[in-house]
Amino acid sequence: MANDMTTVAQHWQDIDKHTALEWGMRHTMVKRSARLTRIHTRRTLTSWGWRGEIEDAVLIVSELVANAIQHGRVVGHQFAVRIALLECGGLVIDVSDPVPDFPNFADAIAQDAGPQHPEQGRGLLVAVRLSAEITWFPRQYRGKTVRARLVGKPVRHRCATSLCANPQEQPQV
Ligand SMILES: Nc1ncnc2c1ncn2[C@@H]1O[C@H](COP(=O)(O)OP(=O)(O)OP(=O)(O)O)[C@@H](O)[C@H]1O
Ligand SMILES: [Mg+2]
Repeated sequence: MANDMTTVAQHWQDIDKHTALEWGMRHTMVKRSARLTRIHTRRTLTSWGWRGEIEDAVLIVSELVANAIQHGRVVGHQFAVRIALLECGGLVIDVSDPVPDFPNFADAIAQDAGPQHPEQGRGLLVAVRLSAEITWFPRQYRGKTVRARLVGKPVRHRCATSLCANPQEQPQV
């Protein structure tokens, strides 16, 4: 997890350098914003012709936004969604909220532990299973960003960055 500010800055630079297309929105932290975000995400990825699993991406956005509204809510503040399509075809989904901490992150994404409660604690596990990687990091001035990275097919060429690596792909020998 990128909590060191140098690493975070480097991460942003790498993403910006290799971003082909980008979309973002801010919204009030109410439940109906989650539905709006799903609609916008589906429409955006479809209009980009993103060559990945669009419904998986929509579900991940939906879970991260639901979490921002439920666990990251501060009265008078908004959440932000930013989606970047990388040149390698990968997608970076960032959902930011005004609460700076994510105290039990490691437990929340531990796939072997499973949810403690049958009706809760499933959202992040769903996102983990559908993503190449889930991380979080503090924002510079306030709050944090929870980031999911998905693998897609190249739009231009493969970027020479670890951001585009698929951990499931074994290196050729
Ligand atoms: N944006 C966030 N800020 C702070 N804590 C969070 C955030 N998102 C998740 N968490 C913490 O991680 C836990 C697991 O999140 P997860 O989405 O898996 O489950 P849930 O939101 O509790 O329930 P469900 O998503 O199944 O309705 C949450 O219960 C909460 O403690
Ligand atoms: Mg949740």
